[in-house]
Amino acid sequence: SGYWVVVPAAGVGKRMGADRPKQYLPLLGRPLLSLTLRNILTWPGLAGVVVAVSEDDAYFPHLAEAKHPQVHRVTGGVERADSVLAALNFLATRESGETPVLVHDAARPCIALEDIEALLRADPVSLLAQPASDTVKSSRADGDRAVVDRTLDRNRIWLAQTPQRAPLGLLHSCLRRGLEQGAAITDEASALELFGHSPQLVPGRRDNLKVTHPSDIVLAETILRLRYA
Ligand code: C5P
Repeated sequence: SGYWVVVPAAGVGKRMGADRPKQYLPLLGRPLLSLTLRNILTWPGLAGVVVAVSEDDAYFPHLAEAKHPQVHRVTGGVERADSVLAALNFLATRESGETPVLVHDAARPCIALEDIEALLRADPVSLLAQPASDTVKSSRADGDRAVVDRTLDRNRIWLAQTPQRAPLGLLHSCLRRGLEQGAAITDEASALELFGHSPQLVPGRRDNLKVTHPSDIVLAETILRLRYA
């Protein structure tokens, strides 16, 4: 019983421009992935965690959490969706299709327990998301410039976060079929949407940021320091 958490952590972190993958950059003196895993391991009802890391990852074995009995490692893939699929392949050999799975980015260490509780109370197919506060434009190319194509209706725009939740069997088949079709899949919800599902949007805290650019490190450290001070 309980739910599993899948953590894609096989990215290279190109936008960070650092000397190592961003999930191993120090935050408050600890590797980012270590903080995210430590956070996940406190969630009530957790059955286990599957972390997808790249094949040549030399950092993961040195994390304290790598030896935790609830933490399992698989080899990730070229894109985020391939990494998630590798983890689901592992889970499918040992869990039933009904088992709830939460996919959570390694790069989101600031996720708060109250958001996890809200997601666990929500629809079995659901995700944390943030209602847009900025006005959002879609663009088209005009020569070498980007120009506004149109303005989207802000009241209907949400920014997808993680965790994203679905039953193991459903998520596994949608992700596998979506990738076979060559669809662009940047989160789990988009794979489910391809096959007619409408995941519930659960309003999450704004500070569940994805550490992507160098300035995000300072922000994430401040959020964590305030929360656990
Ligand atoms: O690149 P982005 O910030 O969207 O990555 C989100 C998460 O997906 C990160 O935790 C990253 O490590 C992971 N990822 C992965 N396998 C890839 C690419 C990204 O597990 N091939």
